[in-house]
Amino acid sequence: MIIREATKGLKGIIRIPGDKSVSHRAVMLGSIAEGITAIDGFLMGQDCISTINCFRKMGVKIDVDKTRNRVVVYGKGLYGLKPPEQVLDVGNSGTTIRLLLGILAGQPFTAEITGDDSIKRRPMARVTKPLKLMGAEIYGRDDANLAPLKIKGGRLKGIDYKSPVASAQVKSCLLLAGLYAEGETKVTEPAKSRDHTERMLEHFGCPVTVEGNTVKVRRVDSFTAADIVVPGDFSSAAFFIVAATLIPDSHIIIEEVGINPTRTGLLDVLYRMGAKIRLRNKRVKNNEPVADIEVVSSKLKSTEIGGEIIPRLIDEIPILSVAAAFAEGTTVIKDAAELKVKESNRLSAMAAELNKLGGEVTETDDGLIIKGRKQLHSAEVESHNDHRIAMAMSVAGLKARGETVIKGSECVSVSFPGYFSILQKHI
Ligand code: S3P
Repeated sequence: MIIREATKGLKGIIRIPGDKSVSHRAVMLGSIAEGITAIDGFLMGQDCISTINCFRKMGVKIDVDKTRNRVVVYGKGLYGLKPPEQVLDVGNSGTTIRLLLGILAGQPFTAEITGDDSIKRRPMARVTKPLKLMGAEIYGRDDANLAPLKIKGGRLKGIDYKSPVASAQVKSCLLLAGLYAEGETKVTEPAKSRDHTERMLEHFGCPVTVEGNTVKVRRVDSFTAADIVVPGDFSSAAFFIVAATLIPDSHIIIEEVGINPTRTGLLDVLYRMGAKIRLRNKRVKNNEPVADIEVVSSKLKSTEIGGEIIPRLIDEIPILSVAAAFAEGTTVIKDAAELKVKESNRLSAMAAELNKLGGEVTETDDGLIIKGRKQLHSAEVESHNDHRIAMAMSVAGLKARGETVIKGSECVSVSFPGYFSILQKHI
């Protein structure tokens, strides 16, 4: 993909695709609910299609209407999944493999699960260890840390688990397993991660108790299907929020975006940096807060980011580092070592790619140091086969002199099909 330096601001009303986290969870909970779950605004990205394909392989009928972004799941109930005859393939999706392992842990059959080269490198012990404590049998390389994994579930017991990482994927995996486990399953994390699973379980009528960073569920015999309207993905909106902030003379409104506070750390940081962003028309849809986001351009100053806010902007660090590259002063991002085990090593990827454009970014053990206010120049950059790196670099390209080439930009389709055409339309 070739990105030219923007000569005018971003304008207009923008609609972005549905939230990835909510779309995955809607298919998963819909599949194990009793009855029919209609999902509107579903993200037709490759990651969520992988989730659908995995459940189809376990006998769940799922209708997909791509033109209307509508998915209908014919739930099988908690104990109605069939043993898959083929290996379950999650593609590039960490959320699919980790959450699905939680559901598989409760099934009285054996399944094999794998994914692409990136998935095969990502740590799975963070979920397989506690699932084994609950009673699941799991086998794979490096003591069941690396996919492909083989899992035999059934007869789980609840645990009181203190997770060493703040991870919604770990928490959600254990909460889903907890629906099948004897007694209570309790998960405590060091900082609060996104809470879509908790909210959706409540929406489906499953009791969940939340106290600070601890979440508890109990075994249920069954729960009933519930329709879902998926809000726009804040993590996809983030690229437009930063682009409109950085490119002079911009004024955009992004409609119907999820503003769950466990996801919007980027807004808190951008406000601190001097951005002009307004949330309009706030409302709640199926237990998730939604708003229209209005952004006008502004000059940014540097900031420091670390601690509890990190899980609230975990997927926004690539685009935040682009904002920092154009802010006045030096921005320090710390406590973000988790970025090393995402779809790519996002710390080294952003440092390498921004520096190709003339940025001054240093990678540290757990973050980045970014010297800002640079006029960047064009170059050929790599996506590292990571959707968020490709999109972040496209926003950097809009601010860099000349033409920036992004190699491997097709990967944006895992979370944001149509991204480049929406971007071109509003520039
Ligand atoms: C996700 C959780 C986050 C995030 C990922 C989606 C989810 O991962 O990075 O893109 O849907 O639960 P961790 O919770 O493992 O940090």
